Parts: sequence; C-alpha cells; structure tokens
Amino acid sequence: EKVYVNGEIVSPENAKISVFDRGFLFGDGIYEVMVQLENGVFYKKAHLDRLQDNLKKIGIDYNVEEIDHQLQPLLKASDLTESSCLIYIQVTRGTAPRKHSYPKGIPASVMMYALPYSLPTVNPKHMKAILEPDFRWHRCDIKSISLLGNIMANEAAMSANSDEAALVRDGMISEGSHTNIFFVKNGTVITHPADKHILNGITRMIALKLCNDLDIPVIERPVAENEIEHMDEAFFTGTTTQVASIAQLGDHIFYNNDQVGDITKKLQESFAQLRK
Ligand code: PDD
Repeated sequence: EKVYVNGEIVSPENAKISVFDRGFLFGDGIYEVMVQLENGVFYKKAHLDRLQDNLKKIGIDYNVEEIDHQLQPLLKASDLTESSCLIYIQVTRGTAPRKHSYPKGIPASVMMYALPYSLPTVNPKHMKAILEPDFRWHRCDIKSISLLGNIMANEAAMSANSDEAALVRDGMISEGSHTNIFFVKNGTVITHPADKHILNGITRMIALKLCNDLDIPVIERPVAENEIEHMDEAFFTGTTTQVASIAQLGDHIFYNNDQVGDITKKLQESFAQLRK
C-alpha cells in the first residue's frame, strides 16, 4: 500500500502532511474519487478536468497534469496496475499559519492513493434511501473536502438501516449524500439541474448522454418531495454506485422485491457496456 504525497510515493506511515495544512484546519481543498476498471481508469479525463475546474473555482493554483503523470507510478508501486481499484485524490491550498485569507505563494498539498476495490459488472443491488434535510451550503457544485453535511446525512441513513440519504432543500430533492438522483415519469427521465445545489457527477453526465443515445427524453428540473409517490422509477448515480435502482425512498415503496424499472434497467445495461 502506497501513498503519493507532495511529489513522493511512500508507505502510508511515512506520508506526512503538516497539522498547519489548510485542508486539516479549514477543509480548504478539493477531492476526486475515480475507479480503475477492466479497461483502465473510468472517465479519467472527465474526473481530472472537474478537479482542475474546482481548483480554479476556489483559487488554488495547481496543474492536475502532475497527478496524471504520477498516477501510473503510484499504481505500479501499489501493485495495482492491472487491478480494479479506487483512486482518491486530494489537493489542498497548502501549509501556512492559520489565517482565514488565502496565503500567497505557497505550494498546494497533493495526496493520492489507490486501494483494491471491485464494482459489480452486473446491476448493482437496489437501494433503500431515507430523506434528510439538505442543510449544506449553497456551493455544492464545488467538490470540497468539507463534507460534514454529507456524512451526517449518510450516517442518518446507516442508522436507519438504509443505503443512502436523499437530501431535501426547500421541499425539493437535490441529490444523495454521495450520489446524484434521477426519477422516471411516463418514460421521461427527470433530474436536478447542474446548478450550485448539486455536484455535477461524472456518472450523472454519463447517464444523461446514455439517455440521449437511447432516445429517452430528459427534463432537468428539481423534483419536489411530494411528487415522489407519483414517480414511476428512481435511481442513484455515482462513481462507486454506478446506476442503482431505488426500491424505497422515504415512505414511498417503488418495489417490494428485486424488480427494476424498464428505463433504469436500460440505463444499467448501457452503462455496463461502457466498461467493455
Ligand atoms: N461522491 N453528489 C455528491 C454529493 C457526491 O459526493 C458524488 C460523488 C456524486 C456523484 O459524482 P460522480 O458521479 O462524479 O462520482 C454526487 C464520491 C464518489 C465520494 O465522495 O466518494
């Protein structure tokens, strides 16, 4: 097991980040999660482009090309070149005495690791989700390492023996704690627009492209909590979730068994093809 940290590939016990790192003190940084599957890192360019975009949004001057260059050496050192694995990348503003304003002229701190991880090649298990208030900030488009709002919602789901929490802001469902959410009504796919209240997931973008390829109509609009019972299907998307059917959302039961809706199923099948 190896970790890339600020230019070096070392064992985790030798990986060091200062306690004055702004990621540690303020949560001042951006992260990415991607997976390597049978045919390489899945949508690597999209993930690295999003990372670069996010760094720009918060004014961290760092070129993600370095990460791209270090990825193969890290996988090699970790003995994972040919294996399915999960890759975590984190870039923070760097190390400086604690002061709210951005320090000038310090290098960003970069950390990355890969761990063995397997994703099902056939449809992932259907999910049961609770509804939780979305009390996060208004810049959920930024993939910030500050994830208290997300982890508190996810923990509520785990405590309720559920798989995920769908977040509700002003009566509207925004996204999951670590997923995007989609609905299907009369053959049309409905999902929250990629505004500042959700993370524009790479898997979300892939699902929208697949809808386009399959001639499935799409409307990007928020779905109200009180519309759930009128929806025909629902599913979550995410790097670690792929396209997962929702069997129950809040009090509403879509399926009592392993059934999966027609459109969800079509998208799962097309999604699985992308791995080939
Ligand atoms: N989470 N929304 C939120 C809040 C997320 O944290 C994620 C991803 C997504 C889906 O994005 P993508 O399809 O690009 O993975 C949506 C990652 C996997 C995580 O935090 O582990």
